[in-house]
Amino acid sequence: MAKNLLLIFLLISLLALSLELAKAQLAPAAFVLGDSLVDVGNNNYLRNIAKANFPHNGIDFAARRPTGRFCNGKNPADFIADQLGLPSSPPYLSLPKNASYINGVSFASGASGILNGTFLAYGELIPFQKQVGYFVEVHKSLVQQMGSSAAEKHLSKSLFCVIIGSNDFFDYFGSSELQKQHTPQQFIDLLATSLKPQLKKLYEFGARKLMVAGVGPLGCVPAERVNNKTHQCNEEHNSWSVKYNDMLKAMLKGLKSELHGLNYSYFDTYKVLHNIIQYPSAYGFNEIKAACCGLGELRAKSLCLPIARYCSNRKDHVFWDLYHPTEAAYRIIVDVLFDGSSPYVVPINVRQLVSS
Ligand SMILES: *[C@@H]1O[C@H](CO)[C@@H](O)[C@H](O)[C@H]1NC(C)=O
Ligand SMILES: *[C@@H]1O[C@H](CO)[C@@H](O)[C@H](O)[C@H]1NC(C)=O
Ligand SMILES: *[C@@H]1O[C@H](CO)[C@@H](O)[C@H](O)[C@H]1NC(C)=O
Ligand SMILES: *[C@@H]1O[C@H](CO)[C@@H](O)[C@H](O)[C@H]1NC(C)=O
Repeated sequence: MAKNLLLIFLLISLLALSLELAKAQLAPAAFVLGDSLVDVGNNNYLRNIAKANFPHNGIDFAARRPTGRFCNGKNPADFIADQLGLPSSPPYLSLPKNASYINGVSFASGASGILNGTFLAYGELIPFQKQVGYFVEVHKSLVQQMGSSAAEKHLSKSLFCVIIGSNDFFDYFGSSELQKQHTPQQFIDLLATSLKPQLKKLYEFGARKLMVAGVGPLGCVPAERVNNKTHQCNEEHNSWSVKYNDMLKAMLKGLKSELHGLNYSYFDTYKVLHNIIQYPSAYGFNEIKAACCGLGELRAKSLCLPIARYCSNRKDHVFWDLYHPTEAAYRIIVDVLFDGSSPYVVPINVRQLVSS
């Protein structure tokens, strides 16, 4: 009897080991640039008012711990790392100066945008250009650590994730000053002309596999719906989201023909989230309008503060707080990112991108 048990135990251990080996890394590193959709704690180290390192954020995270993620649980950066077989890339600002960046690092900062001026009034943020500047430092460190040709090879196989742009729009929607300076089309053009040289700089410093996400249906977040009597989406703001995404998609196509050896996945956050909002039950959701955590109408009259209320059925809400999706929605989004196809992720999905 004891012998049989031992045998079974050995077999189970072998099986577990082989499963562990089978989960090979799809890429040596993930470098994450972006905003609160992928911030894993950089803002905890900055003097600003764009923070999430307090309850009820993190209520479904390991040990129910708030970490600085603007979510109840994991965010897309975590799911992407899971899929790649890597640990979540740590916040750049949490690391010592002599840290090893070999498995990647995250520069993402809540409330940051493509433009330096986006949500400047919130305090210290890491705007996109500064995030790219930090990556240039990381590149230098990798070259020192590995030597130049090994570092180039390492980076050429690594995944670069760029999820930015929503905050530029939210700042624009709320600022009559910005609206006076730029028409919506001019503002979209400004975002494009600001983003493009920064993506080129990532390439210049070794990036060859680039995942770039468009913005979601910004007019459908609870913070926008609550401004409408019947809680409808702001269709004008949605149409600007679509215009920006079209431009971003075309820009990436141009970059690939311009930059030898660059491969990319463009992820259409708008189309994927809009589909979920239109057919929620097909994805297991039944609340698309109200946030899970917040105060007042649609729980969208406050941030997810410690004094706010939160729902118990977090798996059937698309939105965690007035701006950010739930872990449940993020999980679906990253599944499409890795294994979906046109028109949701083009010209290739991230699984194809990292295996090319
Ligand atoms: C970084 O420096 C500290 C002391 O300054 C040292 O204790 C630590 O081992 C170093 N870490 C690495 C990865 O070199
Ligand atoms: C944005 O900030 C960076 C520093 O991070 C600076 O080098 C750059 O000149 C700024 N760009 C503009 C347009 O102000
Ligand atoms: C509410 O949204 C709908 C659909 O976008 C729009 O037709 C309507 O004018 C909006 N109402 C208000 C009061 O903003
Ligand atoms: C990646 O880009 C290279 C160079 O443009 C191209 O030859 C290759 O087919 C691309 N790989 C995929 C999977 O598209």
